[in-house]
Amino acid sequence: MALRRKLIAGNWKMNGLRADGIGLARAIAEHARIGNPACDLLVCPPATLVVPVGEAIAGSGVALGGQDCAPAEKGAFTGDISAEMLKDAGCSYVIVGHSERRHGHGESDDEVRAKVAAAWRAGLVAILCVGETRAEREAGREVVVVNRQLAGSIPGTATADKLVIAYEPVWAIGTGLVPTPADVNAVHHSIRSVIPQGARILYGGSVNPKNCGELLSLDEVDGALIGGASLKADDFWAIAEACR
Ligand code: 13P
Repeated sequence: MALRRKLIAGNWKMNGLRADGIGLARAIAEHARIGNPACDLLVCPPATLVVPVGEAIAGSGVALGGQDCAPAEKGAFTGDISAEMLKDAGCSYVIVGHSERRHGHGESDDEVRAKVAAAWRAGLVAILCVGETRAEREAGREVVVVNRQLAGSIPGTATADKLVIAYEPVWAIGTGLVPTPADVNAVHHSIRSVIPQGARILYGGSVNPKNCGELLSLDEVDGALIGGASLKADDFWAIAEACR
């Protein structure tokens, strides 16, 4: 089987005014231009910054992604952004089913599946997020929960080139807590058995320059989806460098 090239993705969430976002994007692009990264790099800025960030990273090899998309292609959906619009703005990826959407906006697996299908319709790679809550982890149900999310959120037409899974335990996001390497590997191993062969599985949740080396050395970990540490170009680059 072809080696899975690692993907280091920054989810900026709802952070950054224009000057910050463009500055961050330029700094990341500069690292990528001179640093010959050993992984694929992706930044997912807030929707207002997709276009200027796309301009700032042009020619650097860093890819651009959205943080969410609507199921529909267009129409009367105030406030929503379609996958086609993200594609048109220069994106090649979109994050869907992030726990902040599932929990904060009540998104169901059905809705997430429709968003994954929308991403594919528009020609985007979907980064599908799954992960258990603290209570589910304490009850030993992480694999059951993640399998249920995968079964409910992946359309039947999945192929490895258009699907990336991000395993993000809800309790590890923004908390500084990280599962043990063995726990990460175990959940990734279980995910791998139900997704197309060759699809990448990222780990997300409090990844930083200190812990990334161990996480990225795990055989089942094909990269990282990074929140807080992706807002500092040097930290983001340090994580990318751990893929070497
Ligand atoms: P943190 O890296 O800030 O924990 O966020 C992880 C995340 O939610 C990425 O999508």
